[in-house]
Amino acid sequence: MTMPSLTPKQFQEHLLTWQRHHGRHDLPWQQNPSPYRVLVSEVMLQQTQVVTVIPYFERWMASFPTIEALANATEDAVMNHWQGLGYYSRARNLRKAALYIQDTWNGEFPADVNALQNIPGVGRYTAGAIAAFAFNTYGPIVDGNVKRLFCRYFGIEGVPGTSAVDKQLWSTAEAYTPTHNNRQYAQGLLDMGATLCKPKNPACDACSFTTTCKAYQTNRVSELPTPKPKKVTPTKPGHFLWLESDGKLLLEKRADDGIWGALWCLPQIYLEPEQLGEHIKLKGVFKHTFTHYKLDGKVWQIDKLGVENPQQQWMPLDQLDDVGLPKPIRTFIEKHVKTQA
Ligand code: ADE
Repeated sequence: MTMPSLTPKQFQEHLLTWQRHHGRHDLPWQQNPSPYRVLVSEVMLQQTQVVTVIPYFERWMASFPTIEALANATEDAVMNHWQGLGYYSRARNLRKAALYIQDTWNGEFPADVNALQNIPGVGRYTAGAIAAFAFNTYGPIVDGNVKRLFCRYFGIEGVPGTSAVDKQLWSTAEAYTPTHNNRQYAQGLLDMGATLCKPKNPACDACSFTTTCKAYQTNRVSELPTPKPKKVTPTKPGHFLWLESDGKLLLEKRADDGIWGALWCLPQIYLEPEQLGEHIKLKGVFKHTFTHYKLDGKVWQIDKLGVENPQQQWMPLDQLDDVGLPKPIRTFIEKHVKTQA
């Protein structure tokens, strides 16, 4: 017979004690956790690791210290601060969020999780995180860390991310979230998940929840959470143009939607390269992996372009640092400009 799970009150007390002694206390966004700083850090942390986020967060706050500064920034300036982080809709949404908070809330964030979810780019997790971290009030959170921890601790079967399992995870999170000390509680969940209850090699030896952990007690720590069925990611070709003249390179600002939205890029063409005519030469290739597919990029050098496109601009090579470029494109350009000089 295994022991029952801790009750919400017991779980909260235990987690808060653990957090005080073993949790993280010096992450940059934990200092002065204003709603704006929490929003920015949480959006950055959605798909990116803490060590990667820290320098981006510091640069962002230096350039856009307030929600008002962000609302007044140009899209190019904002995108420039995101380059290399990936999932660029996050940056566009942060800017939209700033405009929304200015217009709708007169620059002051609401504290309620339902109202928070009306902010562009803010879902259930981020709303909960802002309520908990910034306002220290009731804010349930379920992210990858919490999913893993709860699936193990409560012995929840099934693949996280599927609706039945997520529903169970959220209702557990709601039931276990306290009504005070929310900042420490939320940080405790994330820190437990990141430092002890890790995806691989979880540190069960150092964990003080093992006596009531379902997975541990039934020897299923390595089986929970239930893994996603593996699927193969397709590879798609992508053709890009290289037009260089007088120390300038022809770039194109991409549409807001789709991959690399609102970033500057080598012009992409949607024909077979042979259709470009006689005078094309393969400049080089690059590869990039997105969530849903792999891009097999080819860059074709041509002398001139048939039609003008208002989204295109000759960019001086020494000004490339001022605009947002997708990382594989920047790497490609730097490699091919340097070898020419
Ligand atoms: N991951 C997501 N949010 C986090 C936070 N506030 N601290 C550490 N890791 C996180």
